[in-house]
Amino acid sequence: MRTQVGIIGAGPAGLLLSHLLHLRGISSVVLEKRSRDHVERRVRAGVLEQGTVDTLVEAGVGERLLREGLPHHGIELRYDGAGHRIPFEKLVPGRRITVYGQQEVVKDLIAARLAAGGDVRFEVEDVALHGLETERPYLTFGGERLDCDVIAGCDGFHGVSRPSIPEGVLSVYEREYPFAWLGILARVAPSSEELIYTRTERGFALHSMRTPEVSRFYLQVPAGERVEEWPDERIWAELKARLESVPGFALATGEIMEKGVTPMRAFVAEPMQYGRLYLAGDAAHIVPPTGAKGLNLAVADVRVLTRALAAYFEHGSAGLLDGYSRACLRRVWRAQHFSWWMTTLLHTFEDDDAYARRLQLSYLDYVTSSEAAATTLAENYVGMP
Ligand code: FAD
Ligand code: DHB
Repeated sequence: MRTQVGIIGAGPAGLLLSHLLHLRGISSVVLEKRSRDHVERRVRAGVLEQGTVDTLVEAGVGERLLREGLPHHGIELRYDGAGHRIPFEKLVPGRRITVYGQQEVVKDLIAARLAAGGDVRFEVEDVALHGLETERPYLTFGGERLDCDVIAGCDGFHGVSRPSIPEGVLSVYEREYPFAWLGILARVAPSSEELIYTRTERGFALHSMRTPEVSRFYLQVPAGERVEEWPDERIWAELKARLESVPGFALATGEIMEKGVTPMRAFVAEPMQYGRLYLAGDAAHIVPPTGAKGLNLAVADVRVLTRALAAYFEHGSAGLLDGYSRACLRRVWRAQHFSWWMTTLLHTFEDDDAYARRLQLSYLDYVTSSEAAATTLAENYVGMP
């Protein structure tokens, strides 16, 4: 078998890359370890930057997103017994975010690839990368061989692509946080029209949503926490204790459809390429989810990689491919900083003393009262151009 671009991973990065390449007449094969059902049900991110929405719409996969996605023009920061709105329409006019589940994006992309006769293989075992330093790299899997011109490693943080790069090539920058997020999806109408990011002495909580009937919540919990320690009643009690910190706000509860614990970690591997292998999305970098940047970064990488591959296959020009990593890393590091900043602003750190807590509250007061500080938050949140 032969293709131009061998893509490992059918998450948002791999699927979008395959779709965008198809629109440019470039062939690809996507190899995914899990089943289609599994990747379509995996509940993860939900906040799409304007640039992400534009990319999906321009690529012809935004029809349902435009119909069902929820446009938001602000978020609330809640702390110390009061809520404060960060108004995007005033601070960053014309820019907004859209709430639409990552697994919906994945469903739309899979449907588009299959409708166009795309080659997406699920439940593929033992993918291995070979000949990355040569002009004829290839992939092996389940007893088969796929020859490629280029390989795209879109297989997430735990994939095989990044570990296939020889030792000593990559510089790794990382940070583990001493807490995790317990995320739930609940069959209940959102209790707020906009997202609420709450800082309390009990820890951080986030009220998000998916549809007018389905809400999404996250709770800061200790690192390594097991889902079994959180029966439904405990989750609702803790969400109420943290979110009902504002007088008059009542949290509606309902059936919990899904629960999971996400570790909080930051990670960047540089450069994002080696020979004929290009890494995109979580395969190259992870952010703590507080700034809602993970999925958006994956889409941004894929935009850059598509342009570079098009220049290479259409004109034989390798300049953009050579500069791929450098072109991505500027945005990646901005998102790293923003995610670290939002995380530090809103979570409780066990070793923080009373002084550190006062500093945190002072910064929150600044962000919610100074237009300059609020604009910093807003422009990063909706996505840098
Ligand atoms: P992924 O979505 O991870 O896709 C990689 C794909 O590669 C997967 O389908 C995987 O099965 C496949 N794969 C892995 N190894 C192999 C292999 N050896 N062979 C073949 N296929 C392989 N971001 C937010 O902004 N907000 C959130 O609330 C949030 N929650 C998250 C919860 C979890 C549990 C995780 C892991 C991430 C979360 N993120 C969140 C981050 C966001 O979802 C990711 O940034 C986004 O999924 C990145 O897309 P990707 O395509 O790069 O990687
Ligand atoms: C969601 C996830 C995030 O990480 C975030 O910052 C906001 C919303 C969500 O899943 O809805």
